[in-house]
Amino acid sequence: MSSYTLTINGRAQTVDAPPNLPLLWVLRDLLDLKGTKYGCGIGQCGACTVHVNGVPTRSCMSPVSTVARMNITTIEGLSADGAHPLQRTWCEQDVPQCGYCQAGQIMTAAALLAANPTPTDSDIDDAMAGNLCRCGTYLRIREAIHAAAALVAPAKGAA
Ligand code: FES
Ligand code: FES
Repeated sequence: MSSYTLTINGRAQTVDAPPNLPLLWVLRDLLDLKGTKYGCGIGQCGACTVHVNGVPTRSCMSPVSTVARMNITTIEGLSADGAHPLQRTWCEQDVPQCGYCQAGQIMTAAALLAANPTPTDSDIDDAMAGNLCRCGTYLRIREAIHAAAALVAPAKGAA
């Protein structure tokens, strides 16, 4: 056991954990942040995606010792009130079915929009390729990302 301080959703949190404990279990079991999901545990499904220093990262494959002192954002920290453009358009487009994969989908999409505010279909498909959805919501995910991009895009023709 060692002590690690992580900055999670803007707040420094110290946990005692074995160095190889995946960040996923630190979030879910030690800090009760259950929005990040366990899917495969081997980096293949994307359900556990969080941001580490702004980069979409598989928390199931990230030992706590490797993310100490880094800035971690989970779905709970994406916005204070669920009003992130992606959260709004996800609701408007009725994207989720069972919902299991969706926190990871939104976190990957948020990193995409931060890096590329006007993604093409191809940009979206490339960025989202590692996030699997057994319910097949891929087309609505793509539409919701386009809609969120339109929400945050500067008004056309504005000075
Ligand atoms: S649970 Fe981490 S990638 Fe599947
Ligand atoms: S909404 Fe069910 S797995 Fe994606």
